[in-house]
Amino acid sequence: MKTILLTGATGYIGSHTWCELLEAGYQVIGLDNLCNSSEKVLERVAGIAGKHPVFIKGDVRDAQLLADVFASHRIDALIHFAALKAVGESVAKPLEYYDVNVTGLVTLLQAARNAGVRNFIFSSSATVYGDPASVPIREDFPVSATNPYGRTKLMSERILRDLESADPEWRIGYLRYFNPVGAHASGLLGESPKGIPNNLFPYVANVAVGNLEKLNVYGGDYATRDGTGVRDYIHVVDLALGHVRAVAHLFEGAPSFTVNLGTGTGYSVLEVVRAYAEASGRPIDYQVVARRPGDIAECYADVGLAENLLNWRADRGLAEMCRDSWRWQTMNPHGFDD
Ligand code: NAD
Ligand code: WQD
Repeated sequence: MKTILLTGATGYIGSHTWCELLEAGYQVIGLDNLCNSSEKVLERVAGIAGKHPVFIKGDVRDAQLLADVFASHRIDALIHFAALKAVGESVAKPLEYYDVNVTGLVTLLQAARNAGVRNFIFSSSATVYGDPASVPIREDFPVSATNPYGRTKLMSERILRDLESADPEWRIGYLRYFNPVGAHASGLLGESPKGIPNNLFPYVANVAVGNLEKLNVYGGDYATRDGTGVRDYIHVVDLALGHVRAVAHLFEGAPSFTVNLGTGTGYSVLEVVRAYAEASGRPIDYQVVARRPGDIAECYADVGLAENLLNWRADRGLAEMCRDSWRWQTMNPHGFDD
């Protein structure tokens, strides 16, 4: 049985991936410093998986801790989620972002190399495509970044590619996620942002449940079908299953690969608002305001490569994303903070 070290394990995507890896029969060691997640995730993962998860509270920048983890467990692969991810905060606190996202990655890679572990799955983002010249976006499109968060992902990809060139024993899966949304169908796991959410889905969920009054729709004058921004929302469980396929692909002996994980379909802000109102049975009050600086009009994936290479496709649609988000929101009105 293969053992996977999962960093950022108690976070939004990490916790869902943890459950799917256990379900697929892997042994998983979760590592997280809990700076953006809750220890309560552990009992939820236990409830879903039917076994107690192995968890280490620790920081990916802590070389000694990592050396101890590799010395005491035989690890076959890493899935590295641990990172800071808020675009606006990254502009205000660039050093924190470079430290966690870049120094954290390098420290983890050094520890893995010292232990002889060279199978690695990296959480990249559609943000590396910047403002794409056209959609759908293919993996060979040019990359760029407009904010420190995006630059940490670009630099991380660069570091990993340099590492592969220096030592072809490394086999790396670069997974570029589009917009992960939704929650576990059990209602036990979901996204629990601290403070007022920046992202559309958690914001809409909070309007629906009555925690927030109305949604600000950022821009009604984009060149899209209704003037609002279009994104490729992907159900977090589909995304988690993409990781299970990606790590299996490495274990099958595949060389390094870079793939988009999205659905291939874009929805506008107003389409999301309508779908959420339908799923929740609640009206979603909104007003159209000015564009948010840094936003792009349209972003959705070409998913052909993920389908061909990984034999994976996202099959949960927008209605299911809204239903599962709403179930999570009503069962946990304050996320994990109750
Ligand atoms: P999240 O914040 O819910 O999870 C990240 C986890 O990493 C948190 O539990 C946090 O406590 C942990 N962490 C942060 N710094 C750490 C450190 N120094 N040491 C140990 N643990 C640390 O975020 P998420 O949405 O689950 O994102 C997971 C990964 O996916 C991140 O790398 C993110 O950049 C990437 N990603 C996310 C999205 C998205 O929209 N959610 C899109 C593309 C890529
Ligand atoms: C979606 C759409 C907004 C909030 C971000 C990061 C990206 C990636 C995923 C990590 C846009 C509109 C939003 C609101 C709105 N993360 N919106 N009112 O910006 O596509 O991507 O998360 O890698 O790097 O930038 O996601 O959910 O913030 O916005 O109208 O209150 O909803 O303008 O069109 P985004 P989002």
